[in-house]
Amino acid sequence: MKIAIVTGASSGLGAEYVRCLAEDSDLGQIWVIARRADRLEALASSCKGKTVVPVPQDLTLEESFSALRRKLEEEKPEVKVLINNAGFGTLGDFDASDLAAQTRMVDLNVRALTAVTRAVLPYMKKGSYAINVCSIAAFAPNPRMTVYCSTKAYVYSFSKSLRYELKKKGINILAVCPGPMDTEFLPVAGIEKGSSHTFDTLPRCSPSQVAKISLKKAAKGRGVYTPRLFFKLYRLLAKLLPHSLVMPLSKT
Ligand SMILES: NC(=O)c1ccc[n+]([C@@H]2O[C@H](COP(=O)([O-])OP(=O)(O)OC[C@H]3O[C@@H](n4cnc5c(N)ncnc54)[C@H](OP(=O)(O)O)[C@@H]3O)[C@@H](O)[C@H]2O)c1
Repeated sequence: MKIAIVTGASSGLGAEYVRCLAEDSDLGQIWVIARRADRLEALASSCKGKTVVPVPQDLTLEESFSALRRKLEEEKPEVKVLINNAGFGTLGDFDASDLAAQTRMVDLNVRALTAVTRAVLPYMKKGSYAINVCSIAAFAPNPRMTVYCSTKAYVYSFSKSLRYELKKKGINILAVCPGPMDTEFLPVAGIEKGSSHTFDTLPRCSPSQVAKISLKKAAKGRGVYTPRLFFKLYRLLAKLLPHSLVMPLSKT
């Protein structure tokens, strides 16, 4: 049976991916992973005509990876689509931050994405693809979101390098790099009106559009997708200019 796996599916962009994937008749099931089981159950019941399987796990815990490996070994599905989406950020100076939150961010955004990809890859075949949810934060450092932008720089580099390795197997990896989206990400990060001039002024990306378009681009073999012209130009600017010149603009 062909399946899709979506991490961080209980809200925001992850839930949008599930809604889009529910329209894909080629998929027998969608496995959805996050901590809030009630949200996953509600999402599953709202996706009529598609079997959405809640897999409630905290991906910062090692045991979540062994549980996923066991489920894959037992059910031996073909994973047509993997969406590595679970992630969070925090706003504020690193030297005033809660260390546990910063290391948890590395565990989720970096370690879990790496572990889930490694666990799932043996079940992906020619034509399968993964989308790694990155961010415009990957393009240049963002002071006041120092650990977050560093985790997303990892996701960007990991995605490009793995895509190169997997070309011979016909498996594609796409890094999607959205700008701000009005999801639970913002309150979770402690971002509210007035707390960051950058977040107050940047244009917003639509989670439903980001999900829909990135799925199409990943299926077509694209490696990076940055929604909106504004952020495409920012990506170019961050490539051309030294980061010391970009950081006064990219500071959050
Ligand atoms: N919103 C933005 O401005 C923005 C911009 C660029 C990139 N992104 C990226 O987009 C992705 C999705 O974020 P979003 O905007 O949709 O925010 P969101 O609504 O807060 O979604 C985050 C998801 O991650 C899950 N998650 C958090 N901690 C987890 C854990 N320990 N184990 C398993 N799942 C966990 C959450 O579910 P539970 O709480 O139920 O576990 C939730 O489903 C993230 O990777 C984020 O970095 C967001």
